[in-house]
Amino acid sequence: MHMKILTFSTSNHSNSINAALASLAGEKFKSVYKPDADIEMLNINDFEMPIYSIDRETEGGVHQRARDFYGKIGEADGLIMSFAEYNGSYTSAWKNIYDWMSRINQKVYQDTPAVVLAATPGPRSGASVLQAVEMTAPFFGLELCGVVGVGEWGKAFDPSTKSLTREEDVAKLDEALAALAGKVG
Ligand SMILES: Cc1cc2nc3c(=O)[nH]c(=O)nc-3n(C[C@H](O)[C@H](O)[C@H](O)COP(=O)(O)O)c2cc1C
Repeated sequence: MHMKILTFSTSNHSNSINAALASLAGEKFKSVYKPDADIEMLNINDFEMPIYSIDRETEGGVHQRARDFYGKIGEADGLIMSFAEYNGSYTSAWKNIYDWMSRINQKVYQDTPAVVLAATPGPRSGASVLQAVEMTAPFFGLELCGVVGVGEWGKAFDPSTKSLTREEDVAKLDEALAALAGKVG
C-alpha cells in the first residue's frame, strides 16, 4: 500500500496562498522524497457546516462533515497543512471544523506526523497562528516534523513556476519535508 499524505489549507479563499504553499510542498514531497506517496489535497470548503455549538451537538451529534474530515486525517500517514492567519489566529472556517472534530477525539490530529506551514502577504509569516499551533500540538495529537512560515508571499512565490524564490524558504521547507519523509517510513 502506498503511503498517503493529506494536504490542505485552512483557508476558504478560492485563490488561497496557503493552498498554493501546501500544494507545492506536497508536490515536492512526492517528487524529491517519496515518489510512491499518494498526495491528496482537500478543500475545506467541502467541509463547511453550521458553527459548532453544544446545543447542535446535543440535538444531532457530531456533524457528518467533521466525521469525514477526521476520517481523512485518520487514514493519512502524514499531513502537510498550511495555516492562513486571520487576526493573529486561526481562520474561523478552520476553527469550526476543528472544534467539531475535537468532539470526536481531542487528539484531532491522531498522532500523525505533520509539516505545518503558513503563508502571508506581510512579513510576519504567520508567526502568531504558527505559535498557537505549536503550543497546543501535544494536546491535539500533532506530531510536528517542521514549522515553516513564508512571509511577503508576493516576493516569495513565483506563480509561473509555482515555486519558492528565496533560498532560505526553500531550505526550511526541504528540512521539514525530509523530516516528514523520515517519520512516515
Ligand atoms: C479577516 C482577516 C484577517 C487577517 N489577519 C491577518 C493577520 O493577523 N496576519 C497576517 O499576516 N495576515 C492577515 N490577513 C491577511 C491574510 O494573510 C491574507 O488575506 C492571506 O491571503 C490569507 O491566506 P489565504 O490566501 O490562504 O486565505 C487577514 C485577512 C483577513 C481577511
